[in-house]
Amino acid sequence: MNTLNRIGVFDSGLGGLTVLDAICSANKGLSVVYFGDTARVPYGSRTPETIIHYAEQDVRFLLSKNVEAIVVACGTVSAIALEALKQEFPIPIIGVIEPACDAAAKVTKTNHICVIGTQATVHSHAYSDYITSRYPHLNVSGIGCPLFVPLIENGFREDDPITKLTVDRYLSPIRNTDIDTLILGCTHYPFLYNVIQETLPDIQLIDIGVALSEAVGKMLPLPTNISDNFVEYCFSDRETGFKRFDTEHLRNLPNGPIKAINIETF
Ligand code: DGL
Repeated sequence: MNTLNRIGVFDSGLGGLTVLDAICSANKGLSVVYFGDTARVPYGSRTPETIIHYAEQDVRFLLSKNVEAIVVACGTVSAIALEALKQEFPIPIIGVIEPACDAAAKVTKTNHICVIGTQATVHSHAYSDYITSRYPHLNVSGIGCPLFVPLIENGFREDDPITKLTVDRYLSPIRNTDIDTLILGCTHYPFLYNVIQETLPDIQLIDIGVALSEAVGKMLPLPTNISDNFVEYCFSDRETGFKRFDTEHLRNLPNGPIKAINIETF
C-alpha cells in the first residue's frame, strides 16, 4: 500500500510558503509539516550563531513530527546553517542555494548573474561561492534588500506604492547593466515577483521554490500514486498573518490545520 511521503518544510516566516507552493505544484502524495517561525522573523538581520540556533530548534520541532526529510525553505538558513544542520541531524536535508544557482547558470546569456537576499545571505557569499566554484566563467553580483521581508510579513502587497518605491530603490541600479539573470535569493521574494519584473523588464527572474521543487521530488523517500497533498501549518506566533496573507502566489497550497507552537521548548 502506498503511503504519503512525510516531509518537513521550514522558514523564518511566511516566505517558505512560496517554496511549499512550488513543491505542492510539482509533487503529489505529500504529507507536509510546514513551520514558519513568525515569532522570530526576520532571521536575515541576525548573527550566524543566532540563525544556526534558531534553525536547530526548527529542525528539532519538525523531527518531533516524525518527518522523513527536511526542506530548508529559507535562503538565509540555507546560506548560513545548512552544513551545520546536515552534520547534526541524521536525515536528508535540502536547501535552496544549489538548485537556484544551477537554474540561473542554465539561462544566463551574458554570464552575469545577480543575487538578491537578506543582509545575512548576501554577506555570507554562499550563492556567489557556489556559482564561482561550479561555474567559473560566470560573474556574480549581490544586493541585500533588508526591507523586503518586513514589508511582506506586514502584508504590504505588490501594488502598494511603498512596495514599488522600495523595490525601485534597491533594484534600479542594475537596470541597463549586463546582468540578465536575477536570483530571488530569499523565499519571501516571490511575493514581489510581478513588481520586481516590472522594475527589471529585461531580466530573467529565478524563483528558488520552482528551482527546488524538482530536487525535492528526487529526494522523496517513497514512490506514491496518491494524488493529493496534506499540509499542517505550524507557526510560532499568532497565525493571523497567514490568514490575511495574499494568497495569489499560493494557489497550490491545500487547506489544512493551522497550529501555534512554542518553538522555544525545542
Ligand atoms: N525567507 C527567508 C529567506 O529566504 C527570510 C529571511 C528573514 O527571515 O530575514 O532568507
